[in-house]
Amino acid sequence: MKRRVIIDCDPGIDDSLALMLALSMEELEVAGVTVVCGNSPVDMGAANAKKVLKYMGRLDIPVFKGAERPLKRGYAGALDTHGSDGLGESFLPEVPGFEQDMTAVDFLAETVRESSCSVIALGPMTNLAQLYQKDPDGFRKIEEIVSMGGNFRSHGNCSPVAEYNYWEDPDGADIVYRAAAEFGKKISMVGLDVTRKIVLTPSLLEYMKRLAPDMGYFVEKITKFYFDFHWHQEHLIGCVINDPLAVAYFVERSLCQGLETYVEVETEGISIGQTVVDSMNFYKKTPNALVLTKTDPVRFFTLFFGRLLGIDESALDLIPALVREVQG
Ligand code: BDR
Ligand code: CA
Repeated sequence: MKRRVIIDCDPGIDDSLALMLALSMEELEVAGVTVVCGNSPVDMGAANAKKVLKYMGRLDIPVFKGAERPLKRGYAGALDTHGSDGLGESFLPEVPGFEQDMTAVDFLAETVRESSCSVIALGPMTNLAQLYQKDPDGFRKIEEIVSMGGNFRSHGNCSPVAEYNYWEDPDGADIVYRAAAEFGKKISMVGLDVTRKIVLTPSLLEYMKRLAPDMGYFVEKITKFYFDFHWHQEHLIGCVINDPLAVAYFVERSLCQGLETYVEVETEGISIGQTVVDSMNFYKKTPNALVLTKTDPVRFFTLFFGRLLGIDESALDLIPALVREVQG
């Protein structure tokens, strides 16, 4: 049976790839896309979600706008990373219409009540925090939350210790982890420890273009800016595509392993946005998270290519060699 999910996101280049992957997975029924301010302002993010849905031929999936700013702080954004249009300066044509009157929070509240539904959160968790504030019982009804965010042993990407999604709205993330603790839930934290291993390289992109030119050129169009950013920022030939790993993990649990533990998010000071992972059980609290620390990039890219391109995995013989080019 398909699992119902809401993709809560801030597209965003890697969010777009994640959404494309989710739409390509027969195990998932995407009930809707909720957008939060993050990489791009919320209006731009919603417009980008529609552009991606149009490319995928899935404009039947509704897109709901959520928070325009983080819960308590000013909005920073990450257009330096994702381009001035939030989609790698691909400047794809706008998709008019398909506006929804309902807010993201109301859609979340309604949908989790209808029938079992999970949330894959790929941006700052402001929408989820607002759901908790407005309708705690609705929050409690979420079947499962998988969040791309945070970091444990790996360094941050916005400060020495903080990952972008939780750094952009630390108060939102803090509320969501506390709410998980209150309701006995465990958030799957797909953080930088694992997503840093997911590097789309020029060779992998070339392989994609050879296998499925249309999809390959689309991915190239939206990732070129991201490749350039990683070169200048990290001296990396390739780009880290964080968000699709959260979607892939939701469907295939053996892709990542980690530890069940208690997590808090710092909301003040120089460590703002840091995930404080109590791996040594100092706090003696019931785990509210499954912090993922290990992943298998060869398996990820095999799944990613297979699903996105609609190709049998047995035909993807070059993936191991191409992934090892970068992983060593
Ligand atoms: C996260 O921040 C954004 O730039 C990406 O979309 C991803 O969700 C990585 O830190
Ligand atoms: Ca994102």
